[in-house]
Amino acid sequence: MAVDILLGLQWGDEGKGKIVDVLAPTYDMVARFQGGPNAGHTLEFEGTKHVLHQIPSGIFHPHIQNVIGNGVVLDPIVFQIEMQKLQDRGVDAAKNLFISKKAALILPSHKVLDRVSEEALGSGKIGSTLKGIGPTYQDKIGRVGLRVGDILEADFKERYSKLLNRHRKMVEFYGQTLDINEQEQQFFEAVAYLRTLKLVDTEYLINEALQNGKRILAEGAQGSLLDVDFGTYPFVTSSTTMVAGACTGLGVAPKYIGEVYGIFKAYCTRVGSGPFPTELLNEEGEAIRQAGREFGSTTGRPRRCGWVDLPTLKYSIMLNGVTQLNMMKADVLTDFDVVKVCTHYKLASGEITDQLPHSLEEGIEPIFEELPGWKVDLNKIEAIEDLPEAFRNYLSYIESHLNVPITIVSVGPDRKSTLKREAEKV
Ligand code: GDP
Ligand code: IMO
Ligand code: MG
Repeated sequence: MAVDILLGLQWGDEGKGKIVDVLAPTYDMVARFQGGPNAGHTLEFEGTKHVLHQIPSGIFHPHIQNVIGNGVVLDPIVFQIEMQKLQDRGVDAAKNLFISKKAALILPSHKVLDRVSEEALGSGKIGSTLKGIGPTYQDKIGRVGLRVGDILEADFKERYSKLLNRHRKMVEFYGQTLDINEQEQQFFEAVAYLRTLKLVDTEYLINEALQNGKRILAEGAQGSLLDVDFGTYPFVTSSTTMVAGACTGLGVAPKYIGEVYGIFKAYCTRVGSGPFPTELLNEEGEAIRQAGREFGSTTGRPRRCGWVDLPTLKYSIMLNGVTQLNMMKADVLTDFDVVKVCTHYKLASGEITDQLPHSLEEGIEPIFEELPGWKVDLNKIEAIEDLPEAFRNYLSYIESHLNVPITIVSVGPDRKSTLKREAEKV
């Protein structure tokens, strides 16, 4: 058996939560492998909207084991609130949730460090979610961080104080003082709660499940263009958001990787700073933002909007070995007479290319192809064969450029607004 992986091909918020929830019934386990509370994964069904940050999106299916893998950075405070919300909605999440003892712990002081570091960057700030992601991964790689398993040790408080002292000095380096008394109390309450849950060596759980023929879906967070190596550095997150991240973030050998679902919007969005070649800084961008309700699920910030960008999609597909594509939110483009697709870039040197240059920032001009809009509310369509011709042409156009079949077309936020598509020859 294999581990299938679903991951974002753009700058996050592609609709990963929705599709994991849609695919979940055919799996036995859903596992998060990186990121943390910077993620906001939205699921809608039976008239209710749920936003998950650290808990895998398989949690609403009682037969599924949900795993928070070792590659995740876990904030116990955010986690306890998330668990409470689920309980309030009648979901007994604790029953089917397994947390890696090797997952990194986000401390209240990591969030302060995130903030002071961003403040120090001034206009060059990354636009971080301020959830402490960067500082926590820095401590992990720097080999000084705390892990979930540490909370079971008798000297946890001492280990905590040692790291806190280090953070205090770092905050002072930025000319500020560390004042986290209130959050500290909340943190220790949340840690006490965490101790009552299933904290295990999830690499064994996952590999045993694999050996027993169970089906596993790995749920990516963020998107490929936010990957720490291949994303638009330095405007990225601090983890490996790509397929390789699932191997290290769960303890899965590469030979077990199966299908790779690459998910993208029919247009493109980005939250935070950094280059975005097809960004629309005009009323068209605003129209997409309003129609797509493009406001962050984690921070509420307005998302920057633009046309779909094939060079970045090709790049993400190549690096992840995507086997199936999922196109999301095409319903948002209903009102457009013309829909644009960026096929190439014109670089400052005049060169025309469909490859990503080292820096996307300077003097890049997107070259667009214009396709007729479909002017039909796709949300009302229930069968793939009822899709309007203009939209089918849009799908085929993108598919033929990307050379990977689009097997799922999502036409609304609800679980039911999902059309499965036989792979056409591409
Ligand atoms: P994720 O981080 O990749 O899980 O995506 P988010 O949940 O942050 O953002 C996706 C947003 O689009 C959420 O509000 C979803 O409810 C919504 N959504 C997902 N698929 C569709 C779709 O096909 N059409 C529309 N209109 N909204 C969608
Ligand atoms: P999901 O899983 C969209 C962005 C932030 C910022 C940069 C670094 O919901 O798709 P960080 O807090 O990680 O240090 O922020 O990455 N970012 C996301 N953008 N969706 C996300 O997650 C994101 N997680 C981080 O806005 O630009
Ligand atoms: Mg999101």
